[in-house]
Amino acid sequence: MPLTCMAALYVVLCDGCYSLRTFQPRGPDEKCEVPKDRAYPACAEKVEFLRARWQSDPCYAFYGVDGTTCSMLTYLSQIEDFCPPRLGRNHSALPWHRKPHSYTKKAEIRTTLSPLHDVISNSSGPAANFIRSRVERMSERWIQAALRMRQSSNKTLSTQMRVLLYPGALAGSVGQRFEALVERGGPLGELVQWADLSACLTILGHNLTFSTSQQQLHSLIGAAPGRGSCPIRRPLTFDLIYTDYHGLAHLQGAMGLAFQHYQCCFRILDSFGTEPAFNLGSYARGHGYKTLWGSWGLLPLQYMTMFPHTPDNSFLGFVSEEAVREEVREEELEPDTYRKDRIAVVYGKQDSMWKGKSEYVEVISEELETHATVYQAPGLASNLPSFIRNHGLLTQEHFLRLLRRAKVFVGLGFPYEGPAPIEAIALGCVFLQPRFDPPHSSDNNHFYRGKPTTRQISSQHPYAEKFIGKPHVWTVDVTNKTDVREAVRAILHTEVKPFTPREFTCEGMLERVRGYIAHQNFCSKSLPTWPPECALRVHLGPLGQSCANVCRRSSLVCEPALFHHLNSPAAFARLKIGCSSTGQEVNHLFPSYSPWGRHCGLQQEPLLFSCAGSDLSQRRLCPCRAHLPGQVALCPDCL
Ligand SMILES: *[C@@H]1O[C@H](CO)[C@@H](O)[C@H](O)[C@H]1NC(C)=O
Ligand SMILES: *[C@@H]1O[C@H](CO)[C@@H](O)[C@H](O)[C@H]1NC(C)=O
Ligand SMILES: *[C@@H]1O[C@H](CO)[C@@H](O)[C@H](O)[C@H]1NC(C)=O
Ligand SMILES: *[C@@H]1O[C@H](CO)[C@@H](O)[C@H](O)[C@H]1NC(C)=O
Ligand SMILES: *[C@@H]1O[C@H](CO)[C@@H](O)[C@H](O)[C@H]1NC(C)=O
Repeated sequence: MPLTCMAALYVVLCDGCYSLRTFQPRGPDEKCEVPKDRAYPACAEKVEFLRARWQSDPCYAFYGVDGTTCSMLTYLSQIEDFCPPRLGRNHSALPWHRKPHSYTKKAEIRTTLSPLHDVISNSSGPAANFIRSRVERMSERWIQAALRMRQSSNKTLSTQMRVLLYPGALAGSVGQRFEALVERGGPLGELVQWADLSACLTILGHNLTFSTSQQQLHSLIGAAPGRGSCPIRRPLTFDLIYTDYHGLAHLQGAMGLAFQHYQCCFRILDSFGTEPAFNLGSYARGHGYKTLWGSWGLLPLQYMTMFPHTPDNSFLGFVSEEAVREEVREEELEPDTYRKDRIAVVYGKQDSMWKGKSEYVEVISEELETHATVYQAPGLASNLPSFIRNHGLLTQEHFLRLLRRAKVFVGLGFPYEGPAPIEAIALGCVFLQPRFDPPHSSDNNHFYRGKPTTRQISSQHPYAEKFIGKPHVWTVDVTNKTDVREAVRAILHTEVKPFTPREFTCEGMLERVRGYIAHQNFCSKSLPTWPPECALRVHLGPLGQSCANVCRRSSLVCEPALFHHLNSPAAFARLKIGCSSTGQEVNHLFPSYSPWGRHCGLQQEPLLFSCAGSDLSQRRLCPCRAHLPGQVALCPDCL
């Protein structure tokens, strides 16, 4: 039987079941003593804490705390679980704990996005408009993919999930800054992902709620009035909550203890990824993995990335807009639809991105008419070179129309790792981009500084470089005019077909997200069983290589959910490694083998199983697996 998220087996108590009556302190004369119970070592300390702080957050008074010891003990045993249960209750009866329930509604593939239109119709602002218009533009393609999926799929239906989508970056004051950026050509990658995730979950038949308001979030999760120190008032009515780092902080600030209880239901959209060494706060602090984000101690697979950056996270991705369009066109139009004009379009909507790049662009413009789509502030003179034809900011429709005519899409080095090159390649453009030598990283680069990753960014778009490559992607030394000129001339002599990796099509995304929802159960305390052990291919890496690299070199992918099969002396023995000593350690490089002293190291902290990470003194033991063609997240035979 396939695993479903355990959360799906549970359902809500209705809001009204739990009445405030139960919190009434008993008579004022009653004497309450703090019980001494070894099973509740923190009880006395929590009472002291409440005595000092109960007025710091109105939520305590809401739950009946009035400064008396009795009221505090009642709170600490009936709303939190730090003190022994009173009045014959027990802690599985905490009002916000989930109750087992048979929730049986099935997720049937939908061939309409209208439930989604209803769900997002309430949100306003430029970001919501962006999401709405993207969903609208792409709805026909989603529906076609849904029809094909319905035909080809014979699986038993999975349980319908109640899903909350909460892009925290769009809520509150951060939200206003973000929205302002959207209108001036700021980063849209996250919005692309939110739009596509919403569409995908709708097609898969789940029940969506979408919110970009912190206040609405509080009412959706049943937050107690006040500042968020207390648990929520009732069990969570969602099986899954997709949010981002900002939203995670909003949830933590509104759920009290219930945050830990439900954190297995969270999925964090995190474009650039979070490596395990940064995720575990104590380890990150003790070992110099400094980050502005990270440190939440979730399972690394709960972070969902824009591209398959590190296999430690789940690759969520998005849909290349034009790919789907071409599927329709291919049938209808003659082959020379893809005939290209001799033009280049430069990627980069803000003129700061052009700084120091004019010689590079000039070389290109000697061979091709060169266009730009740079935001031009009203009344300010353009800083762009005179040989550039600037269209100003274009709508996505017009931008794609321009790309359809273009032969080359020119990367300037920024923005990093965005969706646009994938869409350009899907339209038959060749993506020409700068190589970074030395690579950019959080050590040497302002943009990556503080991001929870040790990745070495070898070009503007490492996915395009490594997963797609020539003839669609050319990576050049932009300071070397000869290199650029030779690349441009070679491109002009090559005919290139539109190309989209399967993982960036609607069907690819549907297949992937369905796989995640069916098999990723982070609420279970037992060891992961997906992918199954039969997918495991054990590799012992060379010194100084991460498992991500070791597996990729064998055309496989590192699979963190399989690490636990390797973390034993028996795994070393099977590889015929003679260990003169074996020890357990909290170390994100383990399990691994150190030839000096022939030491075999085992991992002591499962949260630190990590595909990322390398050290010149360690040969890492790596859990690799195969993947479907063009779909790195999924292995053959594990769906
Ligand atoms: C705890 O309470 C629940 C519901 O009130 C009850 O079903 C359960 O049997 C109790 N458990 C124990 C260990 O007493
Ligand atoms: C939409 O907004 C209105 C007013 O803010 C609110 O009353 C209504 O419940 C909202 N509908 C949904 C589906 O969120
Ligand atoms: C679904 O399963 C049935 C019975 O196993 C089979 O006859 C049918 O061809 C399958 N359909 C598809 C689309 O695989
Ligand atoms: C989603 O669930 C809510 C609450 O159970 C229900 O009112 C709503 O109709 C459902 N929406 C869809 C599209 O199934
Ligand atoms: C510039 O690029 C050309 C062509 O790729 C190469 O042959 C040459 O060695 C490069 N020059 C430098 C200084 O790197």
